[in-house]
Parts: sequence; structure tokens; C-alpha cells
Amino acid sequence: MTVARQAPYRVGIIGCGRKGTQYARSYALHPATEVVAAADPDPDNLTLFCERFQVPGYRSYEELLANERLDIAAPILPVSENPAVVLGCARADLKAISCEKPMSASLAEADRMVEACAARGIKLAVGDLDRNLPHYRQAVKLLASGELGEVVSISVLDGSGHEMSGGGIQRYSLMRLFAGDADVEWVTGWVDDDPWSDDDQGGAGYVRFVNGVEGVIHRRGSVRQGYEVLCSRGLFVSDGAYVHAWKHAEGGLRPIEGVLPQTHLYRGEATHDAEGWRIMPRQDATVQTMVDALDHDIEPWSNGDNGRKALELAIALRESHRRGHTPVYLPLEDRSLKMIPKPGRWGNKKTVYGKAWYAEQMTR
Ligand SMILES: NC(=O)c1ccc[n+]([C@@H]2O[C@H](COP(=O)([O-])OP(=O)(O)OC[C@H]3O[C@@H](n4cnc5c(N)ncnc54)[C@H](O)[C@@H]3O)[C@@H](O)[C@H]2O)c1
Repeated sequence: MTVARQAPYRVGIIGCGRKGTQYARSYALHPATEVVAAADPDPDNLTLFCERFQVPGYRSYEELLANERLDIAAPILPVSENPAVVLGCARADLKAISCEKPMSASLAEADRMVEACAARGIKLAVGDLDRNLPHYRQAVKLLASGELGEVVSISVLDGSGHEMSGGGIQRYSLMRLFAGDADVEWVTGWVDDDPWSDDDQGGAGYVRFVNGVEGVIHRRGSVRQGYEVLCSRGLFVSDGAYVHAWKHAEGGLRPIEGVLPQTHLYRGEATHDAEGWRIMPRQDATVQTMVDALDHDIEPWSNGDNGRKALELAIALRESHRRGHTPVYLPLEDRSLKMIPKPGRWGNKKTVYGKAWYAEQMTR
């Protein structure tokens, strides 16, 4: 169903840091959205943002919601703040909330956020994720068309790095996408360091989806990056920069031409636009998926349930290590389980990395 849009969607940015500013730029450039206000308790970040976008600023999200009529609230916050603010926004009269990833430390908080939004009919999007890129959306269409046969297995070639709930969620979310967003049946996994720590760390494992698709999350980086999706009659590969597909034909594998975008995943032709802002194709894609969700009354491509299930996968891999690497079945019963992101995600970066580093980041 297409919903007639009378005017651009009105966006309020909550959290005027590095990523909040990037979101605002993409929302400001999109013809279907406009940034109308912002909130941040940090006076320097708020002032800089309000000067850049010429919008009123508030010291708290409650003040923002009380004074502005919004369609989309975008809390782009340290993870420690995110659940309470998303839940606060879910009590307001909004069409959508778009927050960052990981959405929370604990599964219980993620559950509350998803349920609160669903109960009010508010669309919840989580994260500026690779899965929003047109390359991967097109790959999903190719996989679903059956031209490559059935999806058999998915390899996450460069692993989770040093973060499972932080950077890893990008990868787990894409693995889910290639598996048709099927639920995970069980995993076996291990972590880099201390399985009994709740702090985020690197990890790896084997994932069995309910539809029989297998996933392998490699532990260590290697010369191969990206993803490999093996199918019964072909394969799809992302090398972390470009995407390719091959179909099995007589005599071997033949490249599939003219179906997948041939551009670099993260770079356009230019690095900066005419006004000096860095061009962010993935950020623009993320905003586009939110516009699509509202225009067509569909779930955002990176919805809250996906954010919650990607977090659950990270926690399940560690849980398997805690249980002697035995299989762990999902959904996890203990919703109090949590994974606390690295300090630069959990708290304000200005506090964690220092004012000088931060000022340079914000004015680049
Ligand atoms: N998807 C991605 O690729 C990606 C990339 C970078 C960061 N992130 C995520 O984005 C989030 C923010 O990262 P960042 O780099 O912008 O951090 P940041 O520290 O630069 O910005 C956070 C901002 O939020 C403000 N803030 C804190 N509590 C607030 C509250 N209660 N209400 C309003 N504002 C509040 C801070 O004052 C600061 O301005 C993190 O969760 C991080 O994991 C995602």
C-alpha cells in the first residue's frame, strides 16, 4: 500500500554527535524529509548542529517532543542512553523512530523497545547498516529469484573484528538477510577473551538457520574480506568493496552481468559534495529505506526485530562458549543476558577520547 505523502516527513535529531550529524545531512538532502529540530544536553554539540542545520535546539528530548510536531524521531545516542530515550519517544505521537546499533546492551531492553513501538504502530529502525545498501538489496532479489538455486551456506569472511555487538551486528544482520531473514535455530560459538565477561569482544561460530541455511562466522581476518553466499547453482560474493555473482553453467561458473550495481559499496564517484560534506552512500541508503517504509507502510529494511535478533546472535555465540561450546538454541530464554559495547559506543565519545580529538572529528 502506498501512503500519500502531503509534505516532507519532519525529523527531530536526538543526539547531535558525529553520527547524528551524518544522519541529519542525509535527511536534509532527501526531498521527502526535513530536519526540523534537535536535542542534546551538550551545549557545544547542540549549538554547532543548530547553526549547521538552522533549526531550534533543545537540551533534552522531552523538551523537543513537547515543543515540536515530528514524524520521525532519530535518537543517535550512546548505547547506554538509547533504550530509555527510544522508550520515551515511543510514548509520543510519531510515525517512526530510527536509532543506532547496538540498540541496547540487554535482550530485555531490546524486547521492550520492539514491543513498545509495535504496540503504538510506530516503525522502529535500528542502525545505519550495510544491509540497507542497494547492492545487498539487489542481491536479495537475485537470491530470491532462484536463478542461483537455493542458498546453502553463508560465510562472514572477515569475522567480527574485536566487537560482536558493536561492529559484528553489521555482519550478523547481513548474514540474516542472505538467509532470507530466517530465524536462527542454534549456534555454537566462542569468544576471543573471557566468556564470562559481559563486555563486548571478538567472537566467531557456526550458525544454523531454521530453513537449513548454514552460516560460518570466521574468527580472524584474512586476505578475503566480505561475504560469500554459496547456492546450489551459483554464488554471490561481496569482497567488502564490490559485489559479484556467478551462475553454474556448462563448463563452469559464468559471471552474471547487468543485475548487481557495479559501484563501490561505500564510495560514490566523488568523496565530498559541493558544500564540502563527505558523501555517505550508506547513510543516504538508510534514510531512503526509512522513507520507503513510511511511503509504503512497510517495515523498515533494518527494523527493530532485526536489531534485536542480531544482538541475540552475538550473545548466543558467547553463551555457547560459556556452556562449553555446546549448541545454544534460540530464542534465548534468559532475557537478562547482555553484552556491553566498547566505551566509545557505550558513552559519549567526547568523554572517552578527549575534547581535542572530538573537536577535530566534529569540524572535519
Ligand atoms: N551504524 C554505524 O556504522 C555507526 C557508526 C558510528 C557510530 N554508530 C553508533 O551511533 C551512536 C552514536 O555515535 P556517535 O559517534 O555519534 O557518538 P558521539 O559521542 O559523537 O555522539 C553522541 C551524542 O549524543 C549526545 N547525548 C548523550 N546522551 C543524550 C541524551 N540523553 N539525549 C540527547 N543527546 C544525548 C551527546 O552529547 C553527543 O552529542 C553509537 O551508538 C554508535 O554505536 C553507528
